[in-house]
Amino acid sequence: MIKSIEEYAKKHRVPIINQEGLDFLIKQIEKYKVNDILELGSAIGYSAIMMSNIHDNIKIVTIEKDEERYHEAVNNIDKLAKQSQIQIHLADALEFETNDKFDMIFLDLAKSRYEAMLNKFYPNLNNGGIVIVDNLGMYGLVYETDLKALKVKRRVRQLIEKIIHFREAIANDERFEVTFYDDIGDGIAIIKKKGD
Ligand SMILES: C[S@@+](CC[C@H](N)C(=O)[O-])C[C@H]1O[C@@H](n2cnc3c(N)ncnc32)[C@H](O)[C@@H]1O
Repeated sequence: MIKSIEEYAKKHRVPIINQEGLDFLIKQIEKYKVNDILELGSAIGYSAIMMSNIHDNIKIVTIEKDEERYHEAVNNIDKLAKQSQIQIHLADALEFETNDKFDMIFLDLAKSRYEAMLNKFYPNLNNGGIVIVDNLGMYGLVYETDLKALKVKRRVRQLIEKIIHFREAIANDERFEVTFYDDIGDGIAIIKKKGD
């Protein structure tokens, strides 16, 4: 069943977490004794299902705005009888409201929205809780010293600038302790919420 989800993702060009990213995620869930997870960007439910497999106490709320992917995710969750662990919502994460608290937030959607998402869901993060953010490397381009000289489309340059800004903003934010893992996947950060 997991294999067929992976094959569907490949066939329909759905971006899902790779093995290295998944291993990293699982390691952090174990290290920080995470039970309650908010995932922003479910796609077809692959990462949510893989995280739910770690142990039965893991509960995941996951949000997806694309209708087709949402329905595919619901199918996958049902087929694997994961409804008691995974609650999926069809919504734009920026409009999704919850009073629930989480030990971990996995930010895995449009990179340009990271900062808005982090600020929106900050109140939902338990003290000591972590936010995991993927794709912060832009394939090394965040380390370019002369962005203007880069031969990339304006849209891409703007995205690189946004990511650089986001990296600086979280590194300088008093509310967090941040660790960057630039050698994992395309650059992952763990943002840990300090206690009050
Ligand atoms: C990289 S994929 C998620 C992959 C998934 N976490 C996995 O590894 O199996 C990102 C998903 O975020 C969704 N997305 C993008 N912006 C969103 C938003 N504002 N609210 C909810 N979902 C969004 C996209 O439709 C896409 O399916």
